[in-house]
Amino acid sequence: MNRVEGKVALVTGGAMGMGMTHSQLLAEEGAKVIVTDVNEVEGQKVADEINASGGTATFYPLDVTDESQWQAVVASVIGSEGKIDVLVNNAGLLILKPVDETTNEEWDLIFNINAKGPFLGTKAVLPAMQKAGGGSIINISSIYGLVGAPQAAAYQSTKGALRLLTKSSAVDLAQYNIRVNSVHPGVIDTAMTKDLLADEESRQAILGTTILGRPAQPKEVSYAVLFLASDESSFMTGSEMVVDGGYTAM
Ligand SMILES: NC(=O)c1ccc[n+]([C@@H]2O[C@H](COP(=O)([O-])OP(=O)(O)OC[C@H]3O[C@@H](n4cnc5c(N)ncnc54)[C@H](O)[C@@H]3O)[C@@H](O)[C@H]2O)c1
Repeated sequence: MNRVEGKVALVTGGAMGMGMTHSQLLAEEGAKVIVTDVNEVEGQKVADEINASGGTATFYPLDVTDESQWQAVVASVIGSEGKIDVLVNNAGLLILKPVDETTNEEWDLIFNINAKGPFLGTKAVLPAMQKAGGGSIINISSIYGLVGAPQAAAYQSTKGALRLLTKSSAVDLAQYNIRVNSVHPGVIDTAMTKDLLADEESRQAILGTTILGRPAQPKEVSYAVLFLASDESSFMTGSEMVVDGGYTAM
């Protein structure tokens, strides 16, 4: 079954981790995938592997904090593909520090990537989605955009901001048939959580509150992204898909 056949999907932070599996799964299900990342070597590899396994993907270097790069990438994709149906705002940075030790520079850096990046992306794809008569924007927030945790003040603030950017955008853009939803992953086995999961004490702490008792593989989140990208989710906008092994259930 090709659940997103014929759609053009742009994924940020697509070079590794969940961005890579979102790209792979969307391609497996029939989308033309625009893989973007600041990591050009790994991003190009992801696109090459998708093409080698029968899918369609193109890599573009894109720093999500840079509006001019957004404009250039979107113009190029519209030039070659004619449209963008799906935007997955996935690129993100994790800084783990208590609020009093977080520097102003770290605060600005993480907000630029995790919150301003999706804002710039939304604005960049908007004219094309309006022209096409609709689209789906998927913002990758976190369980840390829903509940508190120690030593994550800046990160949680960005993910909470993204949760509500999603709802505001959903309200503003419904008139153009553009749906905007957020995904809230729990503990996922990627480079981002490598140190956290390698340290026995922090592993026990974080998995102790995950009622399924294990981290997820990235693809387990990609299925939620696939659903939101597809027309199967046509009545969903402004909503939160929590994919957390039950972390927020207790
Ligand atoms: N791993 C988890 O447990 C977890 C849980 C909840 C939410 N998330 C969120 O999911 C998303 C993906 O996380 P992941 O674990 O796959 O991360 P990751 O660290 O494995 O990959 C992040 C990707 O984003 C790219 N990136 C970083 N800054 C960028 C920028 N300025 N412009 C473009 N690309 C940039 C990196 O190069 C990398 O390829 C992030 O938004 C993260 O906050 C992760």
